[in-house]
Amino acid sequence: MSLIRLAYASEATFLAQPVDKGVEPNVARILMASRSNNTKNDIVGGLYYGDDRFFQYLEGEEGAVRALYDRIAGDSRHRNVITLLEEPLEARTFANWSMKYVPLSSDVKGFLNRHGMKRFRPSDFTRDQCEEMIKLIRDSSQEGRVVSHDVAGSARPTPAVLPKGVGVGLAVAAIGVVGAMIYASTML
Ligand SMILES: Cc1cc2nc3c(=O)[nH]c(=O)nc-3n(C[C@H](O)[C@H](O)[C@H](O)COP(=O)(O)O)c2cc1C
Repeated sequence: MSLIRLAYASEATFLAQPVDKGVEPNVARILMASRSNNTKNDIVGGLYYGDDRFFQYLEGEEGAVRALYDRIAGDSRHRNVITLLEEPLEARTFANWSMKYVPLSSDVKGFLNRHGMKRFRPSDFTRDQCEEMIKLIRDSSQEGRVVSHDVAGSARPTPAVLPKGVGVGLAVAAIGVVGAMIYASTML
């Protein structure tokens, strides 16, 4: 049994939908599938998405990672998949992450600024920049929350709950109306 690590860069083929908070819906769908599949396959890693580009890092058993990478490379949601790094690994470094996701965070912006990059173009990364990016994803505490948007099954409207005082007020008013109607009917 041997472990490997692999990083690649690719270009999204979908048009990013604007989101004011949370994760772009297409990316959220990818993350949901990744998290459940990777847990089953004992694969860990991180995903970064920004400026219509993906950077993904994977660690796991060689067979499992290669099989996943074949599947990912054939996914029509991205193109121009370029392997940036692929090598044996002694021990896992992303212990608890089936797929950690880092949104366009200030530390990634800092990384781009440091290297004089205006946009996120992982296909141009040097090996050192890849390592820096991997460390950044691993160390980031800004885990992007996958919130509903249009992700199947999870977008349920919250039931409207009235504040307690308003509820009590309405009940008292209703009793008053019924009382008045009974009183009025005795006058007829
Ligand atoms: C950028 C990108 C990253 C992806 N990463 C993963 C991943 O880490 N794990 C995974 O299972 N699927 C990943 N996918 C999705 C796979 O290509 C494929 O759709 C999915 O594994 C199929 O899962 P299913 O058979 O459970 O539907 C990724 C897709 C894209 C476009």
